[in-house]
Amino acid sequence: MLLTMDLKTSFILWVCVCSTGFAHNYGSDCVHDIPHEITFVQSRENCTLNHMTWTRLKKMQDLFSNYGLDAYIVTTQDAHHQQGGSPHDRRLEAISGFDGTIGAAVITRNKTVIWTDGRNVDAAMRMDCGWQIYRKGAKGIPSLTSWVKAELQNISRPIIGACPSLMAAVWWKNFKLSFAKNNITMLEIEDDLVDQVWEDNRPPQINVTINALPLEFAGRSWQDKMTDVHHEMAKAGVDILVVSDLDENPWLFNMRAFAFGFDPFFYSFAVIERRTRITRLYIIDHKSMLSRKPSDHEVHVTLERHLDIGEGRCSVRVTEPGYVESPDSAEECVQNPVVKVGEYNMKDVVRDITRVASLPHTRKVWLSPYCSYAVYSAVPTDKIYQDITPISILKSTKNPVEIQGMEDANLLDSVAAIRFFARLEKEVKQGKNWTVYDAFHEIHNYRKQIPHFRAPAFRTLTGSGPTAAPIYNMPTPEDSQPITREHMFMQDSGGQYLNTGTTDMTRSFHFGNPTKVEKDIYTRVLMAHINLAELVWPEGRTGHDIDATAREPLWELGLDYSHETGHGIGAYGGVIEGPGRISSTFADFISDVPFYASIFTEDENINKFPDPTEYPLRKNMFFTVEPGYYEMDNIGVRMENVMYITPAHVNQLSSRCKFLRFETITLVPYESHLIDYNMLSHTHLDWLNEYNSRVLQKTAPILERFGDTDALAWLMKRVENVTREPLH
Ligand SMILES: *[C@@H]1O[C@H](CO)[C@@H](O)[C@H](O)[C@H]1NC(C)=O
Ligand SMILES: *[C@@H]1O[C@H](CO)[C@@H](O)[C@H](O)[C@H]1NC(C)=O
Ligand SMILES: *[C@@H]1O[C@H](CO)[C@@H](O)[C@H](O)[C@H]1NC(C)=O
Ligand SMILES: *[C@@H]1O[C@H](CO)[C@@H](O)[C@H](O)[C@H]1NC(C)=O
Ligand SMILES: *[C@@H]1O[C@H](CO)[C@@H](O)[C@H](O)[C@H]1NC(C)=O
Ligand SMILES: *[C@@H]1O[C@H](CO)[C@@H](O)[C@H](O)[C@H]1NC(C)=O
Ligand SMILES: *[C@@H]1O[C@H](CO)[C@@H](O)[C@H](O)[C@H]1NC(C)=O
Repeated sequence: MLLTMDLKTSFILWVCVCSTGFAHNYGSDCVHDIPHEITFVQSRENCTLNHMTWTRLKKMQDLFSNYGLDAYIVTTQDAHHQQGGSPHDRRLEAISGFDGTIGAAVITRNKTVIWTDGRNVDAAMRMDCGWQIYRKGAKGIPSLTSWVKAELQNISRPIIGACPSLMAAVWWKNFKLSFAKNNITMLEIEDDLVDQVWEDNRPPQINVTINALPLEFAGRSWQDKMTDVHHEMAKAGVDILVVSDLDENPWLFNMRAFAFGFDPFFYSFAVIERRTRITRLYIIDHKSMLSRKPSDHEVHVTLERHLDIGEGRCSVRVTEPGYVESPDSAEECVQNPVVKVGEYNMKDVVRDITRVASLPHTRKVWLSPYCSYAVYSAVPTDKIYQDITPISILKSTKNPVEIQGMEDANLLDSVAAIRFFARLEKEVKQGKNWTVYDAFHEIHNYRKQIPHFRAPAFRTLTGSGPTAAPIYNMPTPEDSQPITREHMFMQDSGGQYLNTGTTDMTRSFHFGNPTKVEKDIYTRVLMAHINLAELVWPEGRTGHDIDATAREPLWELGLDYSHETGHGIGAYGGVIEGPGRISSTFADFISDVPFYASIFTEDENINKFPDPTEYPLRKNMFFTVEPGYYEMDNIGVRMENVMYITPAHVNQLSSRCKFLRFETITLVPYESHLIDYNMLSHTHLDWLNEYNSRVLQKTAPILERFGDTDALAWLMKRVENVTREPLH
């Protein structure tokens, strides 16, 4: 549950988008889809003190004197700049009971304070007594750095510690600069203080089996991908590349595992040496992992075989203690990239980076913008080359096999959705009691009938009427809203498929008689959706450049939505993937940048992550397009398809410029009786007719194969060609 929420929510731009004086009566004086009031929770009634977490905290504070510390920073981030995906990494929870997704805490000898955001206020209320809680955005709350400065002002030469492997280098440098102004020293505590005191009941590191991804689905062997990476490194004049982002090694090595959350990833690091063609890969329980029987029934080789270690063309050779490696002496192995697999362990990783970075012939070391300070500080400053990694770019521009896999998976996933929506509508109309919670589960029972389906791509978001308004609606059995004929229904869900498919789709429906306002809003969102789906733009433009095209039909009425328009999507990979983003405001995709930025005051936020909205949209990248509209306690509408970028054949006066466009691969019809066709332009109608005929042509034969006549009838009703005048 937690990871998906993090990923999906990391995109919300928590800004109130207000406008005044719009003509239509869609609500109050402002577009609100988030509550406005701000809480600053200073003390809590009825808080409890958990003896276990409190004891750990006290032990931690006792350790301060060993290091001369006056304060210590603990956050929800792990060694890969993601918000604690695994229970083993929930350090803040281990000392405070905070089970939320994002938080940064400061512990002094006698005070404990946490900064969190609006989505995590409930989790903060469950924390142990004694914690002071600051909510991001609340008026008058101090930034983390200014609080620390005030708190330590009477101490001479104060020292604040943090673990360098658990903090992004970007944040670390900002903290260091800010604290230095007040003579506060940032001290690196390599062995995190929470790790030192978390002896009892610590969940073990995750140990699920990692499976090879068959070449027929990956489309390119890991050796070929590695050669591509070496090539990009050579172009940039780089000798070493450190892979620290969790979505990169699964793509590079054609390996997948559901080790935490929903994305098919596992914990790993890699250090790629271009000259020797040797790559060190660090995974958990590496010795047993290499020889384990695959846990995916469609995978037939061990990792050892897949990585060409032990067996294969070359005989085994072990030259360095602790590493199992494929030999690089045999002739054919010299020509091929070689991988040495070692244990996932920060100390070993940092030791190896330090060693290869210090070699005299190493000129530059390529680091991810998101790497931890531990990785960053292992490389001499003059050798650091920090930029979006070549893996991130190669991964997001899909190969022909991945494109086919995405098309196949999104088509079959659309069929599953059509079958589910057809049944839901029928049963709701028959008076059967459906709740959003039922709907949230049931859609996956249809996905399970599709070959290669592996798992939900994220925690399904489902809402009905007012409960669709909070954008990230995750129903629980207790608070589940019934699905009725009076309210609109919205569902945002997706799946992961072994044949390199990841899907992410949202549809809104009304199973009764919609009001004029509901139709107006639905139609406006559809127009927003089509505006992007049919847009043609010159190569080189960014997600930031095209975002307004989607919002224009809503802006025209003084309306807007406070989330991004679309995000990159992986191929049996991350449901949210960089480096691009369709949005007009910067929100980071791995972590919650706006949140972390808020723990610094304005002028301290000097080192920044690259802005994904400024990254050019490239051919063969996949994106979601998901405009919406939300009004607190009233309505929530969103429409989301997966699309990929392809060359556009436009009538060019100047043939020098290449143009691009989207190709839509999600094929689920829209709700025809929610569309006011008179509001659509001729080009909107043409697009819709073309889409409908494609939906029909591609999904109907599969529905026939399933023998699902109800779903076929449901489909037919929605894909009739439409004209400007409403159908009679
Ligand atoms: C705290 O507990 C008391 C007694 O059970 C109750 O009356 C009060 O409403 C509770 N306060 C909160 C904020 O829950
Ligand atoms: C809390 O610690 C600070 C710094 O160590 C010290 O100045 C202050 O007197 C302490 N306050 C209490 C109430 O112990
Ligand atoms: C620092 O000292 C001043 C003057 O004695 C006092 O007013 C202030 O409360 C102290 N601050 C802290 C955080 O202890
Ligand atoms: C920091 O220390 C230097 C040297 O001891 C001193 O001159 C300066 O005033 C100090 N700055 C602050 C903000 O305390
Ligand atoms: C991990 O799981 C495998 C098989 O499921 C087991 O053989 C191995 O001992 C486990 N390793 C650890 C460190 O728990
Ligand atoms: C649906 O729920 C209502 C209210 O809880 C109940 O009265 C009704 O009998 C239920 N209908 C069906 C078909 O289960
Ligand atoms: C529906 O419209 C599309 C696109 O305008 C056209 O290609 C198709 O032939 C039409 N189908 C029917 C049944 O009229």
